[in-house]
Formats: sequence, C-alpha cells, structure tokens
Amino acid sequence: TGFHVVLPAAGIGSRMRADRPKQYLQVAGRSILEHTLDCFLGHPGLRGLVVCLAPDDPFWLRLACAGDPRILRAQGGRERAGSVRNGLQCLLEHGACLDDWVLVHDAARPNLARSDLDHLLDALANDPVGGLLAVPVRDTLKRIGADGRVSETIDRTPIWQAYTPQMFRLGMLRDSLGAALAAGVAITDEASALEWAGLSARLIEGRADNLKVTRPEDLDWLRRLWGATS
Ligand code: CTP
Ligand code: MG
Repeated sequence: TGFHVVLPAAGIGSRMRADRPKQYLQVAGRSILEHTLDCFLGHPGLRGLVVCLAPDDPFWLRLACAGDPRILRAQGGRERAGSVRNGLQCLLEHGACLDDWVLVHDAARPNLARSDLDHLLDALANDPVGGLLAVPVRDTLKRIGADGRVSETIDRTPIWQAYTPQMFRLGMLRDSLGAALAAGVAITDEASALEWAGLSARLIEGRADNLKVTRPEDLDWLRRLWGATS
C-alpha cells in the first residue's frame, strides 16, 4: 500500500521541562525526531512525508536530515490538530490525492516497530474508514471520588489506549478535522475528529513499547530500551 505521512512536530514539550522541545532532545546520538523519521523514510510504500514545525523553530535546520528532498515542511498550528491540518494541506499541494492513505504519527514517538507499521497498513488496506494502532489497558482502573478515594473499579475490557500512526483517507481526515476545528471541539487525536464526524476508526493492536516520549523519565526508559549510553 502506498501512503503519505504527517509528523506533527510543533509542540513545546512543556511536560518534559527541557531546554528545547522534546523532539529535538538527543538520544543515542541523534534527535528523537530523526529517529522517528527513520521509521518511515526507509519504507518502500512511502509517497510523501511532511513535518509540521513551529514557525519560530530554530532547531530543524541544524539537523542532518534538514536538506533531505523527500521531506516537506508545513507550519505548525497552536494545537496539534491545526498542525496536522496544515500538513495535510501541504501534501495536497504537492500532488497527494484525496483518496490516498495518510498516516499521522507523533514526532515524539520514536520506537515504532516496522512490524507494527506493516501490520497497520495490511490490516486497513481495504477498510472504508481507516484506524489506528492501539493497546488494551493492562492495569486495573479506578474511578476517583470527590474525596480523593476510590469510588469504584471500572471494567477495563473495552478500554484501549490510542497510539499512532493513525491511518485515514486524506480527504476524509481533512474534512473531519476541518469541521471539528471550525466547531471548536477539542480534538486530541485524528480518530476523535473522525468520531465527531460520525465515522468510526478500527483499532489495530500494536506493541505497548510504541510510547510517546512525554516526561523526563521516558528518556531514561528509551535509552535503556535501546541500550544507549547517551
Ligand atoms: N504537536 C504539534 N503542534 C502542537 C502541539 C503538539 O505538532 N501545537 C505535536 C508535538 O510536537 C508531538 C505531538 O504533537 O510530536 C504529540 O503532542 P504532545 O506529546 O502533547 O507534545 P507537546 O505538546 O510538545 O508536549 P506537552 O503537551 O507536554 O507540552
Ligand atoms: Mg501537548
């Protein structure tokens, strides 16, 4: 299956509390964003790829991959959904079609396995809507009361964590995101925009270690996982 990729990379990483946005932190000799790019740049199905960058981003041009002609750049939005919308627009301006598949993947999720990517592409190739990698919740879930104590235990069997990539038809995703943004609905991932438009994404079970780097301890986890010393 041929596909396009949008990498939203315009966030500031406030929860990481580092001296720069987390996608530019170095792990195992390269930035997290470069590791993430690697997951896609080597794939034979890749048709086009766009990174969405903050308008005042001084870091991108210092990366070794900044001159790679395969990588398009779009301007990030104030919210992730706005960044993704700009990325989709950029792909369309560079020859992508409304019926093409597009995969949206967090720049800060650098441990995507090739087997998960291929599984997602295979499983959804003939799907009318699309879907996303996700992982069933493993822990027991508690609802908390106003007094800060457990009020009940929640059935976890229908609860999954939404990961990325999220894979949809470019036109369908653009229209759903546009409508949700125009209505002012809070959209935290692409699937929620589709839901809002009355379309339902399929969940494809992926590896639990396809984690988003969010907090300082996640960097230590990633270094241990990769056997990296820096
Ligand atoms: N992102 C983006 N544009 C925004 C906000 C986020 O492109 N306006 C991107 C981030 O760069 C990241 C992905 O969306 O790759 C997932 O967002 P998140 O993990 O929330 O990153 P940040 O918003 O940067 O982090 P934080 O919420 O801790 O500030
Ligand atoms: Mg954020």
